[in-house]
Amino acid sequence: MSTRRGEEAAWRVVQEGFDPAREHEMESIFTVGNGYLGVRGALDTPLPGSRADLYISGVYDRKQPGLPYSELEFMTVERGDYPYHELVSLPFPFAVRILVEDTPLDLLEGPWRELRRVLDLARGVLGLRYRFEDGSGRVTTVETLRCASLVNSHLCLQEIAITCENHCVPTVLDAAIDVAALDTDHPHLTALASPVEVPAGVELHCFRTEASDYRVAIASRLTRIGADGDGTRWEVQVPVGGTLRFRRYVTVYTSRDGVDPAPAALAAVGALRWAQFGTLLAEHEAAWAGFWRRADVTVAGSPATEQALRFNAYHLRIATDTDPRTSVAARTLTGRAYEGHVFWDVEIFMLPFYLHTEPAIARSLLEYRHRTLPGAREHAAQLGCRGACYAWESTVTGHDVTPRQIVLKTTRKTIPIFTGTEQIHVTADVAHGVWCYWEATRDGAFMRETGVEILAETARFWASRCEPGTRQYHIRRVVGPDEYHHDVDDNAYTNWMARLNLQRAAQAARWLEELAPERWDLLVGRLGIEREEVEEWRRVGETLFVPQPDARGLIEQFAGFFDLEDRPLAADERFKAPIDRLFEWDRTNAMQVIKQADVLMLFHLFPEAFADDVVAANYRYYEPRTDHGSSLSPAIHAGVAARLGLGEDAERYWRQSLWLDLSNVMNNSALGVHAACMGATWQALVFGFLGLRFDGPVPRPQALRAGRWPHDWRAVALELAWRGQRIPVAVSRQEPA
Ligand code: BGC
Repeated sequence: MSTRRGEEAAWRVVQEGFDPAREHEMESIFTVGNGYLGVRGALDTPLPGSRADLYISGVYDRKQPGLPYSELEFMTVERGDYPYHELVSLPFPFAVRILVEDTPLDLLEGPWRELRRVLDLARGVLGLRYRFEDGSGRVTTVETLRCASLVNSHLCLQEIAITCENHCVPTVLDAAIDVAALDTDHPHLTALASPVEVPAGVELHCFRTEASDYRVAIASRLTRIGADGDGTRWEVQVPVGGTLRFRRYVTVYTSRDGVDPAPAALAAVGALRWAQFGTLLAEHEAAWAGFWRRADVTVAGSPATEQALRFNAYHLRIATDTDPRTSVAARTLTGRAYEGHVFWDVEIFMLPFYLHTEPAIARSLLEYRHRTLPGAREHAAQLGCRGACYAWESTVTGHDVTPRQIVLKTTRKTIPIFTGTEQIHVTADVAHGVWCYWEATRDGAFMRETGVEILAETARFWASRCEPGTRQYHIRRVVGPDEYHHDVDDNAYTNWMARLNLQRAAQAARWLEELAPERWDLLVGRLGIEREEVEEWRRVGETLFVPQPDARGLIEQFAGFFDLEDRPLAADERFKAPIDRLFEWDRTNAMQVIKQADVLMLFHLFPEAFADDVVAANYRYYEPRTDHGSSLSPAIHAGVAARLGLGEDAERYWRQSLWLDLSNVMNNSALGVHAACMGATWQALVFGFLGLRFDGPVPRPQALRAGRWPHDWRAVALELAWRGQRIPVAVSRQEPA
């Protein structure tokens, strides 16, 4: 019995009670979504100041200067007039207000006895339960359930049950979507009159985004079970102990969907019969069950680990779908940090999860990069180069939207941001993603139509960006993964990745030329590739300087890193959002303090390329100098430490990464969950603790690694998609005889 309870608990995330100060963080954690849209997990009656937002993938608008960037304190004011700059927040579609004889059920005012928010990961639904007691001692229980359908991405479902425990007075349910404060809460939106007649009982809201000129329509229809007709507001009296039950359909369409959104939303909401509600919910749950068959990881001995892994997988799933026009924003559709921008986070940190669980999603993420090649070409040209340089931060067109400076809200102090022009490794990261997809799927159609073009255009960028030295090529003035240093030369990670990009492009070009010469000729013609260019990629790749281990086995992060001032970090200087360091950027630039795994990224991505003693020497050197100012860092350390058998480090970093959002480790989950960290945590498990390798006909774990697991794990099991098959992977810890 207790085991069963434990098993069930590992499929749920539960919040008991209520703390207004943590409400924004809870809203991020309890988001429901389906990749097309995400709705933050606000209470059904959002509190004043709540960030009860609905986000729709791909719906961006011009920057609103009053909204924060990556942290609440960071503002980015100057951003020009690019119309697709910032993810647009739309009104909360699940809002209800309940009055018991004119007294609103209010968490801030009235005494409440119970509040429980339960995210059911298995079913992809959020349930809330409230018990209120008003000044006259009337007790009312409210239970709601909501989800964003995983089957029909335009549809959200909500159920509401109100039980009048000890009273029999008129009870009002008002389910109107709150659009009163558009100016302050949804500044990108202008309300539009409905272009079509709205049937009685249905609510329709139409909006236009200011600069991007998207039209969005949200239609809502609610009924009381057992009553005839639909309506937004109901006033009902039930006997003592009686329960009022309501159901709501919400449909969401935008002009990006290739339809006129208002009629589409109305038609969709109108076509649904109430008798279908249970079936629609069951289909949604069946879709989630299918996802879990592909993505679940069991960890015998540690239900808490399973629960957190499922929470992460849940969020990775609701972050995206198979729309090739969009990718995954750093904080997904759960919050507004980083303005909804797409980073290297996708290809390097999240892609392996999708590759081995939902390869169709992995493909669409790379197709997004293909579709944004025009923006990447423009960016390369702006940097004075050829080919395509992906934007460090991008939205829908691939245009670079990285801020050039950040202003601290409190002091108005400004800091320059160098990443937009210098953090060019993202270009090779995308190319690496293409290669990993190819390796994992052998999807020849993708490679022919999409992959080779990305590899070729990115290789052209590197061939023009690498500078010839006396004997070798160099890459100067970059920012590596460690963003505390800019204008550095020969960053080991960047150069390694660029070399690989060049080599793989040459290899892919040869492959296409041999396999489908007419296709290659077309590409050559369309891109204007000169015959000698492929040879140039190979030659530059071969002669590009890539820092090698020195006599101590150390790889220098960039030229001159070892000469910088060396000051060990105190424990309390770690795991903070990088506010102080960024504002001391000139000082940090001169010190051996790094934000996140940089050289260590190479051991993570290419474990076979480095001997254990080299990995160990570098881990020992860089780990104490890393402050983990980025959530991307701990999982990489966990995986590398697991390889090295540094059990304590591996477990510590693993825990930090695994529970980063559930424990609000960085103190900024209020602005959205950390998707790259979630993907990296999965990788630390699969590639670090299981030591999975792809060097045979099927992926295989290294059983010996089990000896280095966190102490409570007994066995780990999962399935991996690999070249059209699903490969079961199961490893147990050998008990001492
Ligand atoms: C990290 C980057 C990351 C970005 C978005 C930054 O703090 O340094 O590596 O891409 O956050 O997650």
